[in-house]
Amino acid sequence: MSTMRYVDYGAGGGPDVLRIAQCERPLPREGEVLLEVAYAGVNRPDCAQRIGRYPPPPGASPIIGLEVAGRVAALGPGAQRWQIGDAVCALVPGGGYAEFCAVPATHCLPVPPGLSLAQAAALPETCFTVWDNVFVRARLKAGESFLVHGGAGGIGTTAIQMASAFGARVLTTAGDEAKADYCLEAGAERVVLYRNEDFVAAAMDFSGGMGLDVVLDMVGGPYLERDLEALAMDGRIAVIAFMGGAQATIDVVKLLRKRASIIGSTLRPRSVAYKAELAAELERHWWPRLADVRLQPVVHSVFALEEAAKAHALMESGTHSGKIVLAVRPETGDGNGS
Ligand SMILES: NC(=O)c1ccc[n+]([C@@H]2O[C@H](COP(=O)([O-])OP(=O)(O)OC[C@H]3O[C@@H](n4cnc5c(N)ncnc54)[C@H](OP(=O)(O)O)[C@@H]3O)[C@@H](O)[C@H]2O)c1
Repeated sequence: MSTMRYVDYGAGGGPDVLRIAQCERPLPREGEVLLEVAYAGVNRPDCAQRIGRYPPPPGASPIIGLEVAGRVAALGPGAQRWQIGDAVCALVPGGGYAEFCAVPATHCLPVPPGLSLAQAAALPETCFTVWDNVFVRARLKAGESFLVHGGAGGIGTTAIQMASAFGARVLTTAGDEAKADYCLEAGAERVVLYRNEDFVAAAMDFSGGMGLDVVLDMVGGPYLERDLEALAMDGRIAVIAFMGGAQATIDVVKLLRKRASIIGSTLRPRSVAYKAELAAELERHWWPRLADVRLQPVVHSVFALEEAAKAHALMESGTHSGKIVLAVRPETGDGNGS
């Protein structure tokens, strides 16, 4: 049996628990391909898994990591479409911080022309999440107004890029001036400095007093009531995390009067079939747009696999803008996009 290197988190704890270890390579199951991983994207849920607050769903690899880019190394029984050697990126329910990763063939997407493997590794988690929550579930349309909290984060950047590319007007929140400039560069029309400005007042001003059509919120508890206040009639709030706390009190009268919808979901435990549908929609609607440099993923920094602890410490410091990526088995000549 062949072995591989991966990042282990032992009994869990701070970033320093992350260590290189050896285990058996996964075998691709029915409909899966085995990827030789060049780069793995780092996402905030990875930190939650490391400290024991985000266990992998049943059947998923216990290894941290939700997205990878690399080459197809083997085909499982019945795996369609890909050939050995194809360069792909993939959404995975776990197993990304490793030299090899098995993934349903339908969750792989081609590396878009002009993008490095490092940039491609930064695509799947945020693209699947934003597409599902903002466009499928909250039904954002061209001409509508949209607020994404934390526009300088991984999810936030993709949400700004996608919403503005599809013709929505984008308002976002950011923690400081440098991040605000970054958000404007990414395509936001206006940025609220959330530490000293009220986003509800800014939303009303931004929408000419009408309120916003869609809000994407990862702050949760302390923001939900204010999201609702900032909302237009028939507005939709998609909640994807609770970085500020899990408990909220809302004025139900406002919810009814605005005919508002509050939607919540987590991507990781969704079915193989559901994620395959999202992959197909992204390939049709978003992948062609990635030819535009302004819509390509922004890689803030690349760390070696051995430096996963540094990558997690950076993520938790919140000083990054865009995405953090781990170089697992980078290919010679692959620009890392940073
Ligand atoms: N439900 C799902 O399916 C799903 C999928 C993927 C990710 N997520 C969640 O989405 C969240 C973001 O993930 P990520 O990888 O994009 O993390 P990230 O890159 O660290 O971004 C986090 C963002 O949150 C912002 N933020 C923190 N506190 C805020 C506040 N009080 N007001 C406004 N913004 C605030 C930060 O803004 P500043 O840096 O400007 O302060 C930062 O831009 C995580 O909690 C993750 O678990 C959920």
